[in-house]
Amino acid sequence: MKTIFSGIQPSGSVTLGNYIGAIKQFVELQDDYNCYFCIVDQHAITVPQDRLQLRQNIRNLAALYIAAGIDPEKSTIFIQSEVPAHSQAAWMMQCISYIGELERMTQFKDKAAGREAVSASLLTYPPLMAADILLYGTDIVPVGEDQKQHLELTRDLAQRFNKKYNDIFTIPEVRIPRVGARIMSLQDPTRKMSKSDPNPKGLIALLDEPKVLTKKIKSAVTDSEGIVKFDPANKPGISNLLSIYSILTGISIGDLEKKYEGRGYGDFKGEMAEAVVAALQPLQERFYALVDSQELDDILDAGAAKANAVANKMVRKMENAMGLGRKQRKA
Ligand code: AQP
Repeated sequence: MKTIFSGIQPSGSVTLGNYIGAIKQFVELQDDYNCYFCIVDQHAITVPQDRLQLRQNIRNLAALYIAAGIDPEKSTIFIQSEVPAHSQAAWMMQCISYIGELERMTQFKDKAAGREAVSASLLTYPPLMAADILLYGTDIVPVGEDQKQHLELTRDLAQRFNKKYNDIFTIPEVRIPRVGARIMSLQDPTRKMSKSDPNPKGLIALLDEPKVLTKKIKSAVTDSEGIVKFDPANKPGISNLLSIYSILTGISIGDLEKKYEGRGYGDFKGEMAEAVVAALQPLQERFYALVDSQELDDILDAGAAKANAVANKMVRKMENAMGLGRKQRKA
């Protein structure tokens, strides 16, 4: 079986963008691959976080993974900071990364923009991400489109390490969904939907209550034409809503366009909100049954044990390849 690794940061309320771009793929892939799904809390602290909120977000994300359909019997679910090999490997990956290539990362430029003080970790985020992936001999990384550049860098770093030291890393492939790879903000459909968006109206959180969710969809920015048509270049707002509606219901975009022909955006948004509420309701019920349970802790403990066993071996191989420690040690 080939190996899959992916992660999400517990940096806010998990959004429909995270679900469609990432979690939905995780669920679809878990039957056919050896899967590791991580809660990447060390990535989250590259920007300031409230300690108590971060703890809650970590738990919420773990429960959401399972509520969305990731089966802990099939996939390994774990928290990054509970597997110290990630930080150890990240340091070694930093040592083969160049500042210039890290400064070119779009996410670094976006997240650093407008900040008075930019942490060094915001710059060294990609070597940590490379470490996360490479530790597990990962073949495929399912992510949304925004992570493509980081994945390309991961491949470069893996190849660089293999060439310079020893051929130990599998070169991972990126897997981006054909539809919904970039879900856009409801308030500014030219920007991607993000869980750390300071304006909550721009995002649909998986845990939004029906009333809140309906209000957000009804106030989503569209255009003044009143024609329900998929045209991302000229009608980004309505096209984004059409993508979300289609992905969550399984109704094709063409069929949705026909359904709303001659009807206004009001009708469209009202019925779309009902469909989104219906799609999220079972997930929310499973989430609330799990989030404070001992079962969740047991799943995370088992996940950490399994991940530690695999990741420690790769760290040892990396150290041996680079000549760290007194002598070669058994991986
Ligand atoms: N808008 C999106 N559309 C499709 N996929 C998305 N992803 C994120 N936003 C969208 C995918 O979700 C996964 C989570 O990635 P992450 O938490 O590691 O970081 P991110 O990509 O930076 O996600 P956010 O929501 O924008 O988080 P913040 O606000 O903390 O930066 C990835 O697979 C990503 O592609």
